Amino acid sequence: MAITLGIESSCDETGIALYHSERGLLAHTLHSQIAMHNEYGGVVPELASRDHVRHVLPLLREALKQADCALGDIDAIAFTQGPGLSGALLVGASVACSLAYALDLPTIAVHHLEGHLLSPLLSDPAPEFPFVALLVSGGHTQLMRVDGVGRYTLLGETVDDAAGEAFDKSAKLLGLDYPGGALLSKLAQHGTPGRFKLPRPMLHSGDLDFSFSGLKTAVLLAVQQNASPPHPNPLPQAGEGSNESLREFEILDQTRADIALAAQTAIVDVLSAKALTALKQTGLSQLVIAGGVGANRALRAQFDQAAQQRGFKVFYPDMEFCTDNGAMIAFAGAMRFKEQAARRDYRFNVKPRWDLQQLNYTD
Ligand code: KG4
Ligand code: ZN
Repeated sequence: MAITLGIESSCDETGIALYHSERGLLAHTLHSQIAMHNEYGGVVPELASRDHVRHVLPLLREALKQADCALGDIDAIAFTQGPGLSGALLVGASVACSLAYALDLPTIAVHHLEGHLLSPLLSDPAPEFPFVALLVSGGHTQLMRVDGVGRYTLLGETVDDAAGEAFDKSAKLLGLDYPGGALLSKLAQHGTPGRFKLPRPMLHSGDLDFSFSGLKTAVLLAVQQNASPPHPNPLPQAGEGSNESLREFEILDQTRADIALAAQTAIVDVLSAKALTALKQTGLSQLVIAGGVGANRALRAQFDQAAQQRGFKVFYPDMEFCTDNGAMIAFAGAMRFKEQAARRDYRFNVKPRWDLQQLNYTD
């Protein structure tokens, strides 16, 4: 029996959680910096680090209160070591290692994507090893074969933009706030199916790799070609931000909703086709969808339908654990704590770039 504290600070969310090896998740607290970065049209690393500093300890106190625990009840401290923004990662790493030093506890350095990858195991029902995982976050799009904790084989990945980036860049071109994935998906609900047909890059490439960078050009062209001046809201050019609200677009511009739907459908079609091929190639019958884009309802609907038709099982993290959070780090830390001796060396470093495959430790 052990309680693992998890600290996530790799990008623009500060997340804290306490995971009990027998009772499961005891508490988790989260602060999102989205509103703060919004006015800059993207994450500002220095502001992100400072905000993590402001929130990490209050969130820890709040989580301990929720779980009715004291610092002395904690048995191990897990933190996100990478990949991510170095300054932001350093906040979580330094707090984790200083606390561990003060409390004489072991630390567990967790790979952020391993957190996402294992997050559906926090749900009920949970998948069983082995499974295929589709990791779709703001920075990564990968298909992995997962044979166990720490046993990951890369099957395919994006050669350019990640799926989340494709959502965010398309959203920006449609004048939506950052990060635009969830807003684009809301706008798409009002779209007319089939009005626009956008490219599905590498759909027939025969491998399990993805490419999404062409999609933003197609979205930009569709936006430019269908603008009908004089428009009350000037259309953004590629690379420019806009603070116009979603509500204005829903009322003013059906075309934008139609383009949003076309972009979402193109992204989801490619993700679904490649994931189905991965299941076929591996012969596995369980698919796990993890990462922020896994919160997309159209994506879930398409995968649910495919699973029913083809007889495989699909698993998602609970909605609140799709995007970055402390629970997945506490959980991945607890799994690694079981599998592998944790460290009592309190010198720390972070790994802003870190390949998930370098993590395999039970080969
Ligand atoms: O996993 P995550 O929270 O952060 C990274 O590790 O990158 O993923 C964030 C990404 C962003 O690109 C965001 O726009 C996207 O997930 N996202 C969505 C939705 N919710 C979040 N994309 C499409 N539909 C959504 N509902
Ligand atoms: Zn993430």
